[in-house]
Amino acid sequence: MKIVTIVGARPQFIKAAPLSLKLKGFLEEVIVNTGQHYDYNMSDIFINELKLPKPDYNLKVGSKSHAQQTAQMLIGIEEILLKEKPNMVLVYGDTNSTLAGSLASAKLQIPVAHVESGLRSFNKAMPEEINRILTDHTSSYLFCPTRESVRNLTSENITENVFLVGDIMYDATLLYKDLALQKSSVLEKLQLTNDKKNYYLLTIHRAENTDNPDRLFSILNVLNKLDKKIIFPIHPRTMKMISHFNLNHLLKHKNIILIDPVSYLDMLNLESHAGLILTDSGGVQKEAYMLKVPCVTLRNETEWVETTENGWNEICGYDSDFIYEKINSFKPPNSYEYIFGDGNSAGKIVNILSNYKK
Ligand code: UD1
Ligand code: UDP
Repeated sequence: MKIVTIVGARPQFIKAAPLSLKLKGFLEEVIVNTGQHYDYNMSDIFINELKLPKPDYNLKVGSKSHAQQTAQMLIGIEEILLKEKPNMVLVYGDTNSTLAGSLASAKLQIPVAHVESGLRSFNKAMPEEINRILTDHTSSYLFCPTRESVRNLTSENITENVFLVGDIMYDATLLYKDLALQKSSVLEKLQLTNDKKNYYLLTIHRAENTDNPDRLFSILNVLNKLDKKIIFPIHPRTMKMISHFNLNHLLKHKNIILIDPVSYLDMLNLESHAGLILTDSGGVQKEAYMLKVPCVTLRNETEWVETTENGWNEICGYDSDFIYEKINSFKPPNSYEYIFGDGNSAGKIVNILSNYKK
């Protein structure tokens, strides 16, 4: 059996790593990198650090409008699928690379397996929501990370070949956490090794925040009021938009430590030692929960509703005062529930795919 795996954006390299390791020896995997992300520390750093096999193809699509980016991926992926003739195509998450992979293969009647299926924000202004819905409705195998994601599919009448396998990012966290904790290169470099549990970690990249000057202003404004250091590995999109809206002055406060995006092990290390995480990222919200670090989510809703149910993750939107208030009053709860499976999502997926009959 031959599988074509589509990756291209930062979190997809991370999600593909544990599954790719498990696929070895069971199935032939051909990896296609769409090139949606292309800076070294948004792409190859993960391939190298996590020892993901070097992609067999790189479409080098790069940054474009949604239509141009997705269309160029569709054309490139179709050519590869016609040549490779796989039995199945594996896609991850909810990016334009996910949609292009699922659409190209479904049109060629090649079954699609979607990892991280069934997530919904119920906010169709998010490009990711469109990508998720379309991908789930064109997929033949739907690998769900949480109970809620299975329920979402059921309510859209998708019930066949839906598998609750746990979250592949939980596999990755368990696989790499010890290694990450042995590494404290970023904290050392920043001379913050004595500040463990006494700094905030921030990531922002969601279009609804970066492309809206009021929201971006409001979020950056909070950073200027906080009394602890804020480590901010900044996504290139966010840096670009901060400059575009002339908001660079909001990054000058002495507590704001602006750094380039970091590797996965460095990120796990920074997350583990943070006192609190501020983010609009899906993956970072989950990792905060997995690592038992309180999280303030800079959005109005989340797909990862389970993380909010026992108080580890607070949905705070983008109002400066409200966020400030939440950060300062946040008390990590005493209760904790394991909501992302048993850390062997990859093993379950490989088992199911290995039993696939043409
Ligand atoms: C994409 C995904 C989002 C995911 C995120 C993970 C879509 C619609 N969005 O958002 O779901 O959460 O990746 O990080 O697929 N850029 C660079 N260098 C890079 C990559 C991007 O400079 O290596 C800049 C470019 O200016 C580009 C902008 O970032 O225009 C946005 O990149 P893009 O891939 O379109 O979307 P993301 O915001 O990264
Ligand atoms: N991440 C990383 N370095 C960074 C920021 C994030 O390795 O500088 C990792 C993070 O630990 C998580 C993933 O990237 O595993 C999340 O990706 P991102 O926030 O870009 O996208 P999302 O999850 O929102 O789609």
